[in-house]
Amino acid sequence: MTKVSEPAPLGEPLSVFGPREGFSPQIGIFVSQLNWMRHKVLSRLKNLSQEDLDWLPDERSNSIGTLLLHLAASDVYYGLNTFDGLPWARYPEEVVNRWEPAMKLGDLGRNWIRGNDLSFYLSALTETREHTLSEFRRRDDEWFMAVDLKWGWGPTNNFCKWFHVCEHESHHIGQIDLLIKQLPSRNVVPNQDVREDSIVAGKASRTALGVAIRRASHQVHDSSPLVLNDPIAVPILGEVYRAALEAAAESIGEESSIAMRALLVARNRLAEDKLAEAVSRGVKQYVLLGAGLDTFAHRNPHQNLRVFEVDHPATQQWKRNLVASSGLREPSTLRYVPVDFERQQVSVQLEESGLDLSAPTIFAWLGVVIYLTRPAFRSTLAFIASFRNGSGVVFDYALPRHALPSAELYARDELASRVESIGEPFRLFFTPSEIRQELSAFQLIEDFDAPMLNERYFSNRSDGFSLRGRSANIVCAWR
Ligand SMILES: C[S@@+](CC[C@H](N)C(=O)[O-])C[C@H]1O[C@@H](n2cnc3c(N)ncnc32)[C@H](O)[C@@H]1O
Repeated sequence: MTKVSEPAPLGEPLSVFGPREGFSPQIGIFVSQLNWMRHKVLSRLKNLSQEDLDWLPDERSNSIGTLLLHLAASDVYYGLNTFDGLPWARYPEEVVNRWEPAMKLGDLGRNWIRGNDLSFYLSALTETREHTLSEFRRRDDEWFMAVDLKWGWGPTNNFCKWFHVCEHESHHIGQIDLLIKQLPSRNVVPNQDVREDSIVAGKASRTALGVAIRRASHQVHDSSPLVLNDPIAVPILGEVYRAALEAAAESIGEESSIAMRALLVARNRLAEDKLAEAVSRGVKQYVLLGAGLDTFAHRNPHQNLRVFEVDHPATQQWKRNLVASSGLREPSTLRYVPVDFERQQVSVQLEESGLDLSAPTIFAWLGVVIYLTRPAFRSTLAFIASFRNGSGVVFDYALPRHALPSAELYARDELASRVESIGEPFRLFFTPSEIRQELSAFQLIEDFDAPMLNERYFSNRSDGFSLRGRSANIVCAWR
């Protein structure tokens, strides 16, 4: 690894900005940034079909395809101005005919740019960028810094014009990401009958799908020993989400993806380990609150353990449809209990489903608390605390923004805006001392932060798979 104090040698990897062979010093540094940004654009595009590239969320939007061609067009337009010295947009007819719809976007783009597959856009991006780079190679830093006094922004040098091309790619990456998240092909909910009172009206929990895809990715991509051995994690996704699972593979090695996957598998593993200890002490009831696509009930190794899956009605119906369409059977030891924590008393529904309220019980409440209001959290916790000694709950909570190290704020904000955009906003955060206060009715509290979980489940690994940062803790609280 390059030490911080050493200058980056020429031809360094993508993330080491610096001079590049064949370019003047300043241009080379800029090219390293341009390359990085283009890599970010291209990393979004795998597995996009022609339909995806043409898709418009509404009649005033631009498609992903149009935005990609817009990036290519920007190289052409800035090139003709800065390399060829032509006044802005006073370009030959053949240039205007080919590139104006992409450059202008709007109706012109919507009408003209569609019906192309990904290779069409990739060739346009490559062709135009190669031309840009070949022109950069022929120029020096003096040209790069030369100022155009007549430019519309005021005196502007070539550096600034091309910086704008680079910055503009970053801007459009945001738009492309948003479009990709909304693509109908990535948001298939296989049940047409989901109830209208769901988390997002008419839809099951999308965060539950995201978690399930990560658990499945762990089975497929992480090396042995697995932290969570879950042979049902892939089958439960069925054919319907096979493409989504494949798409997730593309970011499998990214830091944020590793960190999230590690947290999610550690969360299930800890709950299941604590359950096993409780079962050995005689516990016979396990309640998964906000079960999502958790597969424990299908893998239940404990004879005589009854499992209750509580979830929002729409999510639960979606899961049951998925279980059926994936060819899995609903286990006979499992009871489904549809409950909206915000509107219903979980106690009533669970009792009606046959839960013995006087018997010691283990609750897992994984990945749910952050989505609840404080009253819903407190009333559910009070219900759990009403169970007799030997009962317990495992749940995760997230630290508030002000308690996070600054290096983690960006990742938190990005995640928060992602879940908000799919209708499941983060709502509830706690510091460790606040969570202790909330748990005052419990006798024993074990609060696992990332280093403790790493020590417990990820030490002795050579693949670097582990939790990062401090953003979430997992608590086990015992009556
Ligand atoms: C991030 S998912 C976690 C799912 C599952 N525990 C897992 O780890 O795979 C959040 C879950 O909380 C459930 N949930 C969120 N708000 C809820 C509410 N008000 N009532 C019932 N369930 C809710 C969702 O339906 C979803 O299953």
